[in-house]
Amino acid sequence: MNPRHFLTLMDLDKGELRRLVARAIELKRMQHAGEIYEPLKNRTLGMIFEKSSTRTRVSFETGMSQFGGHALFLSPRDTQLGRGEPIEDTARVLSRMVDVIMIRTFEHEKVELFAEYSQVPVINALTDMYHPCQLLADMQVYHEHRGDVAGKKVVYIGDGNNMCHSYMNAARQFDFQLVVACPEGYDPDPTLTAEVGDAVRIVRDPIEAAAGADLVTTDVWASMGQEEEQKKREQVFAPFQVNDAVMAVANPDALFLHCLPAHRGEEVSASVIDGPHSVVWEQAENRLHAQKALLELLLVGLPD
Ligand code: CP
Ligand code: NVA
Repeated sequence: MNPRHFLTLMDLDKGELRRLVARAIELKRMQHAGEIYEPLKNRTLGMIFEKSSTRTRVSFETGMSQFGGHALFLSPRDTQLGRGEPIEDTARVLSRMVDVIMIRTFEHEKVELFAEYSQVPVINALTDMYHPCQLLADMQVYHEHRGDVAGKKVVYIGDGNNMCHSYMNAARQFDFQLVVACPEGYDPDPTLTAEVGDAVRIVRDPIEAAAGADLVTTDVWASMGQEEEQKKREQVFAPFQVNDAVMAVANPDALFLHCLPAHRGEEVSASVIDGPHSVVWEQAENRLHAQKALLELLLVGLPD
């Protein structure tokens, strides 16, 4: 039987995503109460990181250990992947040893290829195109603070990047209206934009975008792999900072989210990320709980 993968939010159906968020909330309660729950005893997660990470690595590794399992950190620097062993071969070998594999890399096609040759579930832990695990945490934190996100106005201000693309998928899966404010030349992928259709609107003015927003989010202006564009991007994106003027036109109870790491004074002002609308620390914590729910779903199924 083909394993179940999680490469984008579209790999789960709407009902599964809702149950996953509810399960993440329950797993968080259990963890905070000190309850021991080890559904993945003796199971191993292989974690391939071709880009840096703080939250993703620590949340997956800690989640596996809390679940009674084990996680292996694998970097191209000290595996044969870095010396040119084909993805297909690596996938075939690793998936005969471990029970689930998580990959953070550049090209999305690499994760797809890996999944094609893997006998066990593969999780996308960020590619240049998508960051679906982050959206699980984001949807959880919105739900915890404000209830169902369906029908709400969500605004993404900044680069049409992997986070933006995952918000576009989330708009379809969680039934919210998404407005993306980005500079010309930095639009999200046009194929995805066409696919998502009415759920997403692209505008050039962040203030117009943020008017009446229930959730405002942003991301770094230069993603991993774009470091040499940093200076140019700082100029292009300067009018797209999420600051007090932007939050002033949003709903008074709007939440501010950021996947982190953040650059205060660039994509977000310190007054916003450290201010009353921001729930970014809980959002970051939820990576742990949401991914535990994901691992449970993919490996043993969620309890009824
Ligand atoms: N948000 C996120 O994925 O953080 P890391 O790059 O630290 O894993
Ligand atoms: N867009 C960012 C997200 C980091 C979590 C990047 O790809 O670097």
